[in-house]
Amino acid sequence: MPAKITVSLQDLSVEIRRELYGHFAEHLGACVDEGLWVGPNSKIPNTDGVRTDVVEALRKINPPVLRWPGGCYADDYHWTDGIGPRESRPRRVNIWWGQNIECNQFGTHEFMRLCELIGAQPYLAGNLGSGTVREMRDWAEYCNFAGDSTLARQRSENGSPYPFDVKYWGVGNENWGCGGNFNPEDYAIEYRRYATYLRDYGNSKLFLIACGPNGNNHEWTRRFFTKYGIPDPFANARLHGWAAHYYCGTAGTALQYSTDQWYELLHKATYIETLIKEQRALLDELSPHQKIGLIIDEWGTWHPPTPGRHPQHLWQQSTMRDALVAALSLDIFNNHAEKLTMTNIAQTVNVLQAMILTEGETMLLTPTYHVYDLYQVHQGARRANVQIESNEISFAVGSERRSIAALHGSASVKENVLTLSVVNTHASLPIEAEIVLEGASLDEASVATLAADDITAHNTFDDPNRVAPQTHNITLGNPPRYSFPAASVTVIRMRL
Ligand code: AHR
Repeated sequence: MPAKITVSLQDLSVEIRRELYGHFAEHLGACVDEGLWVGPNSKIPNTDGVRTDVVEALRKINPPVLRWPGGCYADDYHWTDGIGPRESRPRRVNIWWGQNIECNQFGTHEFMRLCELIGAQPYLAGNLGSGTVREMRDWAEYCNFAGDSTLARQRSENGSPYPFDVKYWGVGNENWGCGGNFNPEDYAIEYRRYATYLRDYGNSKLFLIACGPNGNNHEWTRRFFTKYGIPDPFANARLHGWAAHYYCGTAGTALQYSTDQWYELLHKATYIETLIKEQRALLDELSPHQKIGLIIDEWGTWHPPTPGRHPQHLWQQSTMRDALVAALSLDIFNNHAEKLTMTNIAQTVNVLQAMILTEGETMLLTPTYHVYDLYQVHQGARRANVQIESNEISFAVGSERRSIAALHGSASVKENVLTLSVVNTHASLPIEAEIVLEGASLDEASVATLAADDITAHNTFDDPNRVAPQTHNITLGNPPRYSFPAASVTVIRMRL
């Protein structure tokens, strides 16, 4: 079948919220310590203790929001450990990730400084599993209260007279697992109790996020909302966001996979579309009176432990396959932008599907970083409708056969420029497609392509630019056609 991409500009009513391009950083392995934070006395160049090279790289991809301090770590984190003079902060055992000693040098103020440096909104994940209602309520007052309370004074003494105005608050993390092993009914009761005491202060209107399902688990969502009911509007128990987690996992290992395993993982990544459609429909059915925001605050690849690295530090390489997972997922988020409020890829530096890997003083940008860089033009743009016709590629998973479409993509318009992003999943063949633009004509375009000569291509500290985008200008011809390289991500931009 000849491939065809049809872009319609008829309906540009949906905005692709910037928050669909969010990030997540946990005290896990070398994500925070080493990756983001080296401390003000480090010989690694830093700004108030935060790595300058990492800040500069992250700033370039325009991160809208950063979630912290976990993950599983969030439900064993006590925020008061991370404020005040650094030399007197306690040393705690990170029970989830290799029993590392957490020295709490990077706490609330350091996180807010990082967010300021990279231009992201903070998203704090509160501790419901091992914390108290009072502890979470106090954290909100400490961060957001502008008046003259003891906690606001303490914040001021610690260097921040002005409130941080934190909008996004997670009320626990994975409470069906590491966040307390609750059943949905018991978590619903706990959620109501916690949310009751989390208040808006001044102009800071909180956006409270409840722990949603593991993957697309319908039962967790159905049973939670059945128990939660419709809160009495006077009860102050608010729920604004519902956060699912979806790790597409792996096939083979981070660096070693067959062509079938290449397709297998890309196919697993596309399941996030089913999750979005089904969880959105469930929220609309179970809580029809409030438009609860669907969030995916952890997603990405998760490969087997890297030989030579601590298995609980989740350090992994990121290849072209991870880049295509990111691009397919972001295209799905764009195409379903009206159903989503936020997503956060896991995790920012040195952990899972990272943007950046660091080693001592050096760092490298992963292929996934380059996808976020190329796709940032979709942030805050108006979504355009895209229909794609292309061949299905058949592949084997054990004795079964499955298939995945060759071409995927999404489009948006911002400042009179149309952006069309396209993923060619075919491991070895370029695919030529006709591009039909309904409602405008096509001619000159700029094209940025992320491709490599090998499906396992990745960047290393010895060869940090092996995978990097190439940009050029093209004339699309009449009828407009473009040949998308094998195993690639392409972003075409045209002035309308
Ligand atoms: O991102 C790593 C871990 O994955 C997080 O701590 C947890 O929430 C999830 O299981």
